[in-house]
Amino acid sequence: MNKKELRVALLGTGFMGKAHSNAYCQAGHFYDLPWKIRRSLVCGNIEAELATVAKQWEWEETASDWRAAIDRPDIDAIDIALPNHLHAPAAIAAAAAGKIVLCEKPLALSAEEARAMVQAARGVPTLVWYNYRRVPAVAYARQLIDEGRLGTIFHYNATYFQQWGADTSRPATWRMDPALAGAGVGDDLLTHSLDLALFLNGRINEGMATARTFAPGRAVDDAISALVNFENGSLGRFEASRFGIGCRNVNAFAMHGSGGMLRFNLEDLNRLEFFDASQPSTEQGARDLLVTDMKHPIFPNFWRPGHIIGYEHTFIAALAEFIDCLANGKDFHPNFADALAVQEALDALQRSAKTRKWTEVPK
Ligand SMILES: NC(=O)c1ccc[n+]([C@@H]2O[C@H](COP(=O)([O-])OP(=O)(O)OC[C@H]3O[C@@H](n4cnc5c(N)ncnc54)[C@H](O)[C@@H]3O)[C@@H](O)[C@H]2O)c1
Repeated sequence: MNKKELRVALLGTGFMGKAHSNAYCQAGHFYDLPWKIRRSLVCGNIEAELATVAKQWEWEETASDWRAAIDRPDIDAIDIALPNHLHAPAAIAAAAAGKIVLCEKPLALSAEEARAMVQAARGVPTLVWYNYRRVPAVAYARQLIDEGRLGTIFHYNATYFQQWGADTSRPATWRMDPALAGAGVGDDLLTHSLDLALFLNGRINEGMATARTFAPGRAVDDAISALVNFENGSLGRFEASRFGIGCRNVNAFAMHGSGGMLRFNLEDLNRLEFFDASQPSTEQGARDLLVTDMKHPIFPNFWRPGHIIGYEHTFIAALAEFIDCLANGKDFHPNFADALAVQEALDALQRSAKTRKWTEVPK
């Protein structure tokens, strides 16, 4: 029997345009997808980049304006990999046209804008590319937590450090313009940490943050640090920086509970550290698990034990699960509502950094 086609338009041909194009190419190779993906249209406003992406990833058609995708009846899904300020207009237009909407993170430039996006997209399936939920080690961390292996959680500490912000000779991109990017590193990196925290440790009730711009004359935050109280009673600490010298892409978290400890760092993404406090004290110690077993989540879709995977597999796995949900009428997470929860937490922390006061995250 011929499979139903999901005809996709991808908006954006930069870093994420490439990551998503790869996922559209590869998902059907690693997963037995219920639907066939058709790479119908790719849009981008940088001519040479658009031509290269279209050719290398075999997109059928190109357009220089993202609006070209919206009203086409032969497009089922619109995937937004554009700078942050274009997420809301593109997603709202796509949802109004009845399309399935996939969108890069952060969902929006503000919580208010994110609320409007959730409202606009309430009748269509959505996905937000908080891709790190699909790292097998992170999914396995969630499994251990769900099984109660960590017991009562006391601490959730997260760091997202990159170092490129310290190079002031780099040409400024949209990421350095608050009108296009939002307040800065919070919108960019902290949102990933917040999404993982909400996924692994639940709702954040309130927080207190401080933000810093180290580079003279720069209009966006280079770093933000925050203390938070989670609904489950645990205490949280978050740090995100583009001045984390020595760190290329350290997206890390540690959780300490009555039952043990978990530690993860994206720079070593196949591994998860697990300290099991139920072991005799004489034998306790952090075990460095290589999360590549056929019994681990997500991993068996790719290779055999010990044959490690990388960054791109997180996008492939998210996309494959989304298509499975679409075909079988199941809810996918993270969707727009999940990404709004991230945005509400971010918004509260960014307000706190300005007022220097503890700030509640609205429910
Ligand atoms: N999930 C992740 O791990 C991850 C990683 C990096 C970036 N992102 C997010 O992905 C989004 C894109 O980031 P990026 O790194 O790919 O940026 P990028 O600068 O590499 O690419 C942006 C693309 O948008 C296109 N574009 C800009 N304005 C346009 C317009 N008016 N019409 C058509 N095309 C237009 C450009 O041609 C370019 O191809 C951002 O929201 C960013 O936060 C997510």
